[in-house]
Amino acid sequence: MKKYLRLFFQKFKQTLNLLPMIAFFKKLLQRFNPTPTPEFIAQQLRKPQGVFAKTIGERMNESNRSLYRLVLQHLELHPGDQVLEIGFGNGHFFKEVLHKAEKLKLYGIDYSAAMVKAARKNNADLIRQGLLDLQMGSSDQLPYAAGLFDAVFCINVIYFWDKPFAHLQEIGRVMKPGARFYVGIRTKEIMEKLPFVTPLFNLRDVEEIQHIFAECGFELIQTQQETEPPVIIYGTTYDMQGMCMVFEKRPEIPRLLLFFLRRQPFILHNALLNDAPQKLAWQGLPIWQLDC
Ligand SMILES: C[S@@+](CC[C@H](N)C(=O)[O-])C[C@H]1O[C@@H](n2cnc3c(N)ncnc32)[C@H](O)[C@@H]1O
Repeated sequence: MKKYLRLFFQKFKQTLNLLPMIAFFKKLLQRFNPTPTPEFIAQQLRKPQGVFAKTIGERMNESNRSLYRLVLQHLELHPGDQVLEIGFGNGHFFKEVLHKAEKLKLYGIDYSAAMVKAARKNNADLIRQGLLDLQMGSSDQLPYAAGLFDAVFCINVIYFWDKPFAHLQEIGRVMKPGARFYVGIRTKEIMEKLPFVTPLFNLRDVEEIQHIFAECGFELIQTQQETEPPVIIYGTTYDMQGMCMVFEKRPEIPRLLLFFLRRQPFILHNALLNDAPQKLAWQGLPIWQLDC
């Protein structure tokens, strides 16, 4: 009996010695918890960084494939066009864009260092052939000459614009007059249901987006909504609705005409501009001057 008791206490002591080690491994496991929190996912979607960036880039390729297809269907490109994608993630879809027309030159800008690195690696051939130029930077400060682009597009990016005017003015600057801006997003109703959509996302409905863009000189040409395959997040299935909004950069009213209109709007209003209130509101003219 004594012998068994001694053996029991020996084992008990050994277990006690192991306890700190067990606690340490438990902590380690918690640190690398394989189920990221919604806040963490939101941060990563807004700006992928760190060890998780590679995974988030790959996941986005899967879950955003149908939205890319929808936007690419609408993207009207002509041989020799210069095209810009803002917020390209790991650059998985560049090849498909380049297939849309002959002799395209494609540019991409993303403010995540991790995504720029991954996209450069994934598209090394295109870069070497001079078909693709990738830069790290933000859409409110673009490193391109004015009037360079025939088309600009972005997918799942405008939610992260806290001050959209700064981004839109800058995008308008680098577009040719009459060029188009294609915006791919999920509808506000769908986004509101997704568990990772935190205040880091700015959710706006179609009317709000249309209004903000119009203030910055973009006219809405078309909106197409499409049902996408459902996605499973934290074990729950969510229906997805993608949307492609196509905007056109309005041609600017010549400066001399603007100068004159600011002084004599009532004379020229009916004669020259049928849709003057909208055209002039974004040129800084008060609409009330035109109500005559
Ligand atoms: C949600 S991910 C979407 C990636 C890809 N377009 C897709 O739909 O799979 C947003 C991407 O846009 C980038 N991004 C967000 N805001 C940006 C900004 N203001 N300027 C440049 N890139 C931005 C992020 O770094 C990220 O790569």
